[in-house]
Amino acid sequence: MRKNLIAPSILSADFACLGEEVKNVLASGADMVHFDVMDNHYVPNLTFGPLVCSALREYGVIAPIDVHLMIEPVDRIIPDFAKAGATYITFHPEATKHVDRTLQLIKSEGCKSGLVLNPSTPLTQLQYVLDKIDMILLMSVNPGFGGQSFLPSTLDKLADARKLIDESGHDIRLEIDGGVKVENIGEICRAGADTFVAGSAIFGQPKEQDENRYDSVITKMRNALII
Ligand code: DX5
Ligand code: ZN
Repeated sequence: MRKNLIAPSILSADFACLGEEVKNVLASGADMVHFDVMDNHYVPNLTFGPLVCSALREYGVIAPIDVHLMIEPVDRIIPDFAKAGATYITFHPEATKHVDRTLQLIKSEGCKSGLVLNPSTPLTQLQYVLDKIDMILLMSVNPGFGGQSFLPSTLDKLADARKLIDESGHDIRLEIDGGVKVENIGEICRAGADTFVAGSAIFGQPKEQDENRYDSVITKMRNALII
């Protein structure tokens, strides 16, 4: 049985103390750091790049870093992210001219690769590249912003993607991104996801006095996955 992974999106973290935020969330039981890269071109928002990724590595973060590229074009920056310590690099197929080449580039740089499908992008995009993919990321909101509501149609899409993965026999994680909360993570898991991005649901927690202020929400998410 595949391990369920919780991947907090630092998009909703306090950027003024990002290293500390990441350490706290990992100490609270998160498995992976989700790193949302936006360029104000592919999506109407702007975030951070490889320098911030390497800064987290230099700060001592050793957990996997899951780089979600919402940028266009894609290829030029991939080697920079590989050098900066990315574990996974995922991108949107609409944002590159040659999807297969971009997947090969990510692998040749020593990273795990993945394709990200927007809510309206069909699973057929995956058909001829499943052998080059370590992760399928289904967007359950339109990309660009944290704090949006989970689109319910993604549940059927997750089930279809789970079937596709299982029938392929490949070792591919199925990640979900957007509107994941304590209240819906169990249902999302039952639909087939095994990797759960959550930004506002985790970092939006009111600050508590204790230093590990994400323990409670991550434990609740983990418990909802077990049932
Ligand atoms: C949206 C990003 C998400 C986002 C999720 O473009 O890819 O990772 O941060 O945020 P929440 O969990 O707040 O919906
Ligand atoms: Zn993301």
